[in-house]
Amino acid sequence: MLADLALIGFGNVGRRFARLLSERRERLAREYNLTCRVVGIATRRHGLVCSADGVDTIEAAELVEAGGSLADLRPRGRAVDVKTSYDVIDELAKSPTHLRVVVETTTLDIAAAQPALDHVRRALEAGCHVATANKGPVAFAYRELMAVAATRGTWFLFEGVVMDGVPVFNLVRDTMPTVRIESFRGVVNSTTNHILTALEAGDDYGTALAQMQAQGIAEADPSLDVDGWDAAAKAAALSNVLLDGGITPHDVDRTGIGLETGVWAREAASRGNRVRLVASARRSSLPVVAPVELPPDDLLAGLRGIANALVLDTDTLGRVVISQLDGGLTHTAYALLSDLLTIRKSRPGNR
Ligand SMILES: NC(=O)c1ccc[n+]([C@@H]2O[C@H](COP(=O)([O-])OP(=O)(O)OC[C@H]3O[C@@H](n4cnc5c(N)ncnc54)[C@H](OP(=O)(O)O)[C@@H]3O)[C@@H](O)[C@H]2O)c1
Repeated sequence: MLADLALIGFGNVGRRFARLLSERRERLAREYNLTCRVVGIATRRHGLVCSADGVDTIEAAELVEAGGSLADLRPRGRAVDVKTSYDVIDELAKSPTHLRVVVETTTLDIAAAQPALDHVRRALEAGCHVATANKGPVAFAYRELMAVAATRGTWFLFEGVVMDGVPVFNLVRDTMPTVRIESFRGVVNSTTNHILTALEAGDDYGTALAQMQAQGIAEADPSLDVDGWDAAAKAAALSNVLLDGGITPHDVDRTGIGLETGVWAREAASRGNRVRLVASARRSSLPVVAPVELPPDDLLAGLRGIANALVLDTDTLGRVVISQLDGGLTHTAYALLSDLLTIRKSRPGNR
């Protein structure tokens, strides 16, 4: 089965996804009878490219990493003139293949989730499936987008939004049927957890943040991490999907971390405790994101560096813990790949 893809956003995550797709090409063909062709790529400052016959994504990644523009790429075969990311989505929608997937990895916009929300809406309305690592659409408009997807018979998937490639949403949807989640509580932002771990050891705030930026783990605007917005977006996404919240990140009671948290983290460590940025919510109450001093026997207190964990309280399985000790771009790219395979597996057969 041939899948045509459009990559909307081609930064750290988008390029790692393109390479992972290339690395797994043979296994995807052998084990899932899936051949993927990227027919368009859109960025904000690095140009756009589109061809009904496919684009060489490795060449495209190398070009962008060298500071070039995708407009300079010579696409294979039938090149299409595209001016905007919406043109690329519209071109994908014209593809005669049965699997058309928009992979959305643009920058998080915490004001209104744009343009990611419009990209996802446009794709779903046009009959394309969507896999995204961008928290915005699910954190701001989950109900609406799921309704559009249901009408059009398409998938709206976003596994990479919380804990990268470690299954959270897919785990609950696919392996916990009829289980009701009552509440969640977790450490879901790697950058702040790394900074807090460094601060309690007496290390420097700026150095710890720079390490997360160098690894491509911090948000493009790192204030989104330290001010708690990234965690608030994840809390809103979790609330919307698992608790039927119907909220946005602006409904989250949010406190971030700062230099003063470093003093607290060191003092807490001297008492044997740990300060962690905790996101939590219950059914029918709004989420809270705030630094919390945790005793050493709290599971979340044991999370060091970029480790994350999410504790789900359920009506059937008691307390379920999902934890991620490592993270990074490959994990997030894998989440997109796993979403792609969720879509593929929903279409049995060869066409
Ligand atoms: N990095 C991680 O570890 C991680 C983990 C989980 C989730 N995420 C989420 O994944 C998404 C991508 O992260 P990233 O690290 O890849 O970010 P990034 O390196 O900053 O890349 C963002 C990409 O989006 C493009 N873009 C921005 N605005 C656009 C627009 N209006 N139209 C078309 N393209 C646009 C950028 O183009 P230009 O470069 O040309 O400006 C760039 O190609 C974010 O939403 C982030 O929150 C990231």
